[in-house]
Parts: sequence; C-alpha cells; structure tokens
Amino acid sequence: MFEVDLPINIARKEALVRRALGGQPASVHLVPVDFERDELAAELAKHGHRAEGRTFFIWEGVTQYLTEDAVRATFSYLQGAASGSRLVFTYVQRDFIDGTNLYGSKSAYRKFRGKRQIWHFGLYPDEVADFVAEYDWQLVEQAGPDYFVRHYIAPAGRNLTASNLEWSAYAEKA
Ligand SMILES: C[S@@+](CC[C@H](N)C(=O)[O-])C[C@H]1O[C@@H](n2cnc3c(N)ncnc32)[C@H](O)[C@@H]1O
Repeated sequence: MFEVDLPINIARKEALVRRALGGQPASVHLVPVDFERDELAAELAKHGHRAEGRTFFIWEGVTQYLTEDAVRATFSYLQGAASGSRLVFTYVQRDFIDGTNLYGSKSAYRKFRGKRQIWHFGLYPDEVADFVAEYDWQLVEQAGPDYFVRHYIAPAGRNLTASNLEWSAYAEKA
C-alpha cells in the first residue's frame, strides 16, 4: 500500500500511526508528493511501487485542491498504468468552482472559494467519461447523490438527502 500525500500530511500520518502502532507496518509505504510540483512516477518508484503491476488507485477528496495542470499531470502518469488497473476518484462540480451554483452551501463556498482560494478544479458529471478517455481510462460508474441515497441512506431507513456537490467516479485502465 502506497500512501501519497503532501509532505506535511505524510509526516502527520506517520506520527499518528507510530503513536498508535509503535511503527509503520512493513506493507505501508508513505510517499510525500506535491502533485503541483513533484513527479509522481519517480516518487512512487523510489518507494518501491512497480508500475508494471496492476494497481488500484484511490484519489479521494483531492482533485478539487489542485490546478487543472496538476490534475492533468497526474492523469498523464495514470495513462502509463498497467492495463486492468482501477481508479476511484472524486471531484466537485465545476459550477461551484466558478461560483454560479453554490449547491446550497454558502459556508462551503466562503471556506473553499472565498478570500483563500483553496479549491481550484472541478468537472461536470457528463464530461468525466471523455476526460478520463483522454488518458486511456474507461469510466465504469459514477456515484452522485441519488446513488448514496439508494445504497446507503434509504437502506438505513433514514430520510435524508445527499449533497450534489461532490461526485465519485470509478474507471478501469484499457
Ligand atoms: C479532504 S483531504 C482528503 C484526504 C484523503 N482522502 C486521505 O486519505 O488522506 C485532501 C487531501 O488532499 C491533499 N492535497 C491537497 N493538495 C495537494 C497537493 N498539491 N499534492 C498532494 N496532496 C494534496 C491534502 O494534503 C489532503 O490530504
């Protein structure tokens, strides 16, 4: 397992795991990477990842923090992933980023797109298939609010809605 994150957060994760378990499990490789600047392929290789093996990539809650250039640079790396690799990633809707739809959450907009512009990148659900296809990935499934209500909220007998702001996508490498 390769855990990729900003150096500051890798250090925090390492400290937390050390405190809880007394050391790093041998199967976990912590990989400090800034997607804006670093070369993901080189950093993963340095930590023992074999690019020729099928890999399951989980990129949860990250794309919105990046510039489009950094998202595309990461997808350029993913373009070289072994056939049969899988990817789950999340993204926020593009019209939240440009401020034309706040998805009922003014406070989230102020926090992430206010004075401190923390979020940068967004996509629309209907452009995800073409976006990943540019990098030889095939979109298999997406999960938006209806999916979460149907699979998790309704079966728990709860009467709640789910936000339409952040979606999850699942793709396979051709
Ligand atoms: C909402 S959290 C998601 C947490 C994540 N799913 C995890 O397992 O730690 C956003 C994550 O994006 C990471 N992130 C933001 N900008 C980044 C960058 N330029 N390079 C690498 N990671 C970044 C943050 O460090 C943080 O861990």
